[in-house]
Amino acid sequence: MVFERAFDYGLQMNAPHLGQNKPPHPDDQVGEGESPTTHFGFRTVAEAEKSGMVRAVFDAVAPKYDLMNDLMSAGIHRLWKSAMVDWLAPRPGQAIIDVAGGTGDIAFRLLDRMGDNARPVTICDINAEMLSAGRNRAVDQGRLTGVNWICGNAEALPFPDMSFDAYTIAFGLRNVTVIDQALTEARRVLKPGGRMLCLEFSQVLVPVLDKLYDAYSFQVLPWLGGLIANDREAYRYLAESIRRFPDQPALAARLKAAGLEQVKVRNLSGGIAALHSGWRI
Ligand SMILES: C[S@@+](CC[C@H](N)C(=O)[O-])C[C@H]1O[C@@H](n2cnc3c(N)ncnc32)[C@H](O)[C@@H]1O
Repeated sequence: MVFERAFDYGLQMNAPHLGQNKPPHPDDQVGEGESPTTHFGFRTVAEAEKSGMVRAVFDAVAPKYDLMNDLMSAGIHRLWKSAMVDWLAPRPGQAIIDVAGGTGDIAFRLLDRMGDNARPVTICDINAEMLSAGRNRAVDQGRLTGVNWICGNAEALPFPDMSFDAYTIAFGLRNVTVIDQALTEARRVLKPGGRMLCLEFSQVLVPVLDKLYDAYSFQVLPWLGGLIANDREAYRYLAESIRRFPDQPALAARLKAAGLEQVKVRNLSGGIAALHSGWRI
């Protein structure tokens, strides 16, 4: 089943193992005189290095990105993305930003959902290659208008305060250098009453499925990445970065710490992915 139960931040009660298994983030533990560090997969790297490394990953995979998504997930990423748009239930007239929007999957779904009276959706992504692949895709689909393609960083969004009714980010937050900075920016650009939705890989909650998923992501994914996108390392980074990302309760706590309210979480496919929702009140 793709779409599972909804729970709020209190889920920690139902799944006590969550939130306790991750080492503290190095970006929270900078000693005096040390330059701040973060993760690039399992490696600890200087914060200043990470965005360049992430950019190199997506430069390399951009041409095969959409094909790889379908192959890796047997098409299930489409259901997760639709679940995100369903939960947001966007209305025509709303100003929406899709951060780390890459090749447009979320923006296209939002536009299709809002119909003819939709305002253009803004995609903001740090990687010009991904945006270029997205623009080509839009043209191939006959979408000549409807998306504002902006190259920018989730941690320093090039938009004024209170610009958007909704902020979405799908499989992007894991890649930013300082997650809390991106969350602070999300809240800043939202209007009061605006909503943030994050779709991201998360922690598998189903015994046995977690072991199978581990074997799949560390053995099969890099092999598939080597075969199709000619980049085994990029897909090893994917598997590692998923393991390093905060689990459901930890991410919910970080949304709250960034000032988002009424934070709720929905697991998808047993926790392989999760949706986090929060509001700027
Ligand atoms: C896995 S792709 C997800 C693309 C799209 N949201 C989707 O779900 O298909 C991650 C995207 O995050 C972008 N990205 C990584 N770091 C970013 C940052 N700091 N700011 C904005 N985008 C970023 C990458 O360029 C890439 O396009």
